[in-house]
Amino acid sequence: MNGHATPDTEHDTPTLPLLVVEDDPAILELLEEELADAGYPTLTATSAEQALATLSHSEVALVICDVRLPGIDGMQLLERLRREGSSVGFIVITAFGTIDQAVEALKQGADDFLTKPLDLEGLREAVYRVLESRLAPHLASDGAANTFHGIVGESEAMQSLFRDAARLADSDAPMLLLGESGTGKELMARAVHAESPRRDGPFIAVNCASIPAELMESEFFGHVKGAFTGADESRQGLFQAARGGSLFLDEIGEMPVALQAKLLRALQERSVRPVGAEREEAMDVRIIAATHRHLEQEIEEGRFRNDLFYRLETFSLRIPPLREREGDIARLIPALIDKHAGQQDKGIQRIEPAALGALLGYAYPGNVRELENAIMRAVTLAEAGQLCHADLPQRIRDQGEAQRHHCRETRAEGTLANAAARADWPSLEEVEKRYIRKVLEATGGNKRRTAEVLGIARRTLYRRLEEE
Ligand SMILES: Nc1ncnc2c1ncn2[C@@H]1O[C@H](COP(=O)(O)OP(=O)(O)OP(=O)(O)O)[C@@H](O)[C@H]1O
Ligand SMILES: [Mg+2]
Repeated sequence: MNGHATPDTEHDTPTLPLLVVEDDPAILELLEEELADAGYPTLTATSAEQALATLSHSEVALVICDVRLPGIDGMQLLERLRREGSSVGFIVITAFGTIDQAVEALKQGADDFLTKPLDLEGLREAVYRVLESRLAPHLASDGAANTFHGIVGESEAMQSLFRDAARLADSDAPMLLLGESGTGKELMARAVHAESPRRDGPFIAVNCASIPAELMESEFFGHVKGAFTGADESRQGLFQAARGGSLFLDEIGEMPVALQAKLLRALQERSVRPVGAEREEAMDVRIIAATHRHLEQEIEEGRFRNDLFYRLETFSLRIPPLREREGDIARLIPALIDKHAGQQDKGIQRIEPAALGALLGYAYPGNVRELENAIMRAVTLAEAGQLCHADLPQRIRDQGEAQRHHCRETRAEGTLANAAARADWPSLEEVEKRYIRKVLEATGGNKRRTAEVLGIARRTLYRRLEEE
């Protein structure tokens, strides 16, 4: 066996390792590095036989397995594990353009699939999702009041978005999710699927920007044997693969105009025609599209079809940027610390007040993704269970300069430090309130000054004070 556990230097309770099965040494190394970076101890195998040997003596949390392997292939490995009653997490890696394989794997009991070329961020997300759904099934249904299928949001804007999303989820109408990059469009698409009557069917996400334009039609609608040079066998497309479920068309603004016409037709007729086929097939998918672009402008510039836009726009949801819902930042911080501390099996007991100040005071042009990346980094670097100001990205530290200055003084008194100690994560709210009160005191009750020091809008400050 050539597998080895990544040494666990940060803490002494190692989490169960992941097992990566891949015969291409370069990809294996890439995966191993990426997973180690994300804090997962990893075992490796270059064949299914080797994987079985490893699994016979080591417990693993999740298998990430290439489909094409010498000897027993990935699908057979999955089938065998499931036949033997193993419920280990399983993510398959398939080649681009073999969506039917991926769907077959899901049917065989795989939890998710990734396509080559690998998108490393997608890998992290998939691993996290699978682990979370296996380890804590109750999390998916959300006991907490202010989340919607894992989407954290307490602001009025998000609460009303959750209500709209829940109402629209029931219908089969195509949906359009609008919002800047990193606002949580994909998360919302998954939430809508999970809330919809199609929840037990597949959720298939496809990024329109990542499929070469000339392959898109066949990738979407499938093709029949002989439809074009190289089409040796007929193959189903994403619309067929997602049958009974939802198809998430991410970055729909990047879809070529010619295909937009075909998509519109499919939506209107509720049927699709595989490339080269004589007849249409009934379509049984719910389309959820998303874009960070301004489609009206795309229409003006001739890159997006008017008629498709109106069709999609009827049921559109706009996810507001984080700077329009500053109150959510304080909710997201503990949720994201928990997420990444959990992923990395690291206990974070305290957040340094200066770190909290900087995180609360920053404007997040990259929205929740930017906040999440900052937290992931700080959790990775954290020592002795403390999330430190010094471990935040420079731009966030810079913006939090005023808060940092203030925190140093308050920290000397020890009150904030104690309040931030992890009795219970929601105490962050309390911390925030105390912090605001401290700054108010320090400015002699001057609200304009206080808002400036905190780096938040005055309206936000008033709102917070009203909540007291
Ligand atoms: N409200 C939220 N609560 C918890 N996590 C969130 C929230 N919004 C976004 N995230 C997290 O932030 C990251 C980015 O979200 P997501 O990928 O859904 O954004 P997006 O709008 O699709 O971005 P892009 O346009 O860049 O693709 C994900 O890791 C997601 O889980
Ligand atoms: Mg996205």
